[in-house]
Order: sequence, then C-alpha cells, then structure tokens
Amino acid sequence: MNKNSLLEDFYGATIGIIGFGHLGHSLAVPLVRNGLPKERLMISHRGSEATRNHAVKLGLESCLTDTPVLMSRADIIIVATRPQDVLSLPGDVVKPGSLVISCMAGLPIDLLKTIFRGDVRRMMCSGPDTILEGRGVATMYPADPRTDDVLRLMGMRIFGSSFEEELDSFTVGICIPAILLNMRLDEDDVKSAILGMERRYPVYGALRGWIEEVTPPDLALDTDDRRANLENVSTKGGITQAMTSVLLEGGSFGAALRRGMERGQEITDAIRAEIMTSSKRAV
Ligand SMILES: NC(=O)c1ccc[n+]([C@@H]2O[C@H](COP(=O)([O-])OP(=O)(O)OC[C@H]3O[C@@H](n4cnc5c(N)ncnc54)[C@H](OP(=O)(O)O)[C@@H]3O)[C@@H](O)[C@H]2O)c1
Repeated sequence: MNKNSLLEDFYGATIGIIGFGHLGHSLAVPLVRNGLPKERLMISHRGSEATRNHAVKLGLESCLTDTPVLMSRADIIIVATRPQDVLSLPGDVVKPGSLVISCMAGLPIDLLKTIFRGDVRRMMCSGPDTILEGRGVATMYPADPRTDDVLRLMGMRIFGSSFEEELDSFTVGICIPAILLNMRLDEDDVKSAILGMERRYPVYGALRGWIEEVTPPDLALDTDDRRANLENVSTKGGITQAMTSVLLEGGSFGAALRRGMERGQEITDAIRAEIMTSSKRAV
C-alpha cells in the first residue's frame, strides 16, 4: 500500500505520541514528512525545556499538548516514554476504541493492559538513526492492521512476530548492528549464532538481512574508535552492554545473544516488581 492510501485510511484519525525523546521524535518526524497533517499529530513530554526547544526547532510546536489531553483525544496513542515512567501516565483516560501502541522495551502486554484502557499493542523498532534514514524496521505483537499502517506511514519495514517472546528477541536483534560495527568478531561464529536464533524465533530470518544491510564491512570503525563508540551506543545496564560484556570476556556470539535475552528478562522482572510496588502504594 502506498503512503497516500495509508493517509486516506487514517482520514480523520489523530495520532498522539507520548514522549519526545530519542525514539519519540524519530517517530514524529517521518509521520509529518510522509504527509500526516500537523493538526492530526499530538505530542506530549514530561516538561523538559530542552525537549520543548527540540520540538520548536523541528517545526512541531503546534503539536505539543498535555499528556492527559493527548490520551483522552487521540485515536492512536504511541507510548514512547521509558518503561520506568509508565505509571505516571493516566492510562484510564484513554477513550474507548482508541489504539494504544507501546514502544517500551520489556513491558509485557498483560501488564500494559492493567495500565491502559483501549486496544493495547506492543511494537519494537530499530534505533532513531535508522528510522530517520528510512532504514527502520519494526515488529509488533499481537498483529494488528492499524499498527501496521502507522509503522508503514513512518516508513518502517515490518517483520512479523507470532508470539511475545519473539518480539523480545527482536529487541536483542536490533542491538546486533551496534556491536558488529564496533567489535571485530569471528564471522562464522556470528552467522551461526544468528541462525540459531532464527531456528527459535523466525523473525530473525528477515532481521538477518537487515543486520547485513546496516553493517557492511566498510562501515566498521577503525580499531581506535571502536571501544569508545561502543560505550556511547550501550546504555548502562542495558541489553547491548550485557552482550558486549560477554564478548569482551571471550564468550561466543551465541552466549552474548543468550545473555541479551536474559538481560531483557531481568529488566522486565525489575520493572514489573517496581510497577507492582508503586501501584500498591497508590491504592
Ligand atoms: N532509543 C531507542 O533506540 C529505542 C528503540 C526502541 C524502543 N525504545 C523504547 O522507547 C522508549 C523511550 O526511549 P528513549 O530512548 O526515547 O527515552 P528518552 O530519550 O529518555 O525519552 C523519554 C521521553 O519520555 C518523556 N516522558 C517521561 N515521562 C512522561 C510523562 N509522564 N508524560 C509524557 N512524557 C513523558 C520524556 O519527557 P522530557 O523530555 O520532557 O523529559 C522524554 O521526552 C523506551 O521505553 C525504550 O524502551 C527506544
């Protein structure tokens, strides 16, 4: 389907993006670039001056609004805050029938449904740079035609996930290019580890092609730049860092991918516990 017919499908619908950080802005920019009228885009953030200035600089000042207003009016709500901030969102003001798409890594659908009213979906996508360059990829769970349309309007390629753990495995997969660009690794070890993931998670069939596309050998950095760059692209305590620690200690790429999955689960468990504690406190 081309972008014009996607826009027709969206006729009258308003898309709201909560969170205008690294990911949120990279989702808003292509929507407008691909023709979504600004009057049909709402954006909210927590209130940082720098974020507001960023929106102004991108010509999106008129889209800024308060989070409760966005949540009660938008037909499609994209949640691009950090998982730790999810309980600060008034999930019960979502209007009936609205679609809520969570981009938050690690928050499972059963938990999201206890927080947000509406039709809740998860999506996971590659990083902001790839999206802004038009090379972004995404997956969603459960499958949903409206989520599919929104992602296509953002210019993303969509790879299917048929079970939730497959979406979580995708979160590990999108960390792979940063590692390959910054570490010299045994090619056969990398290939066989990715094929191993593909046997368990079919989404890696498509993801493998994307990884090769965004990490051509000539893009790899000079050795001197590698270690510093790896620190830049790895969030402290995040999945990429957990994977690189295994590799730096001499572990195989397969062991690094397994550690990435494990780290994802640890993050999920910690957030779930934190959310449970906070919701008990709020009652
Ligand atoms: N970055 C990536 O490569 C990537 C890729 C895929 C998925 N994700 C997911 O995307 C989410 C955001 O990541 P990020 O890197 O974009 O984080 P980020 O740069 O820290 O941005 C978070 C944004 O959330 C806003 N926010 C926090 N509490 C809010 C509230 N109550 N109401 C409205 N906005 C609120 C913040 O507002 P202020 O700016 O005003 O503080 C900020 O704009 C995470 O859940 C992550 O798992 C990220």
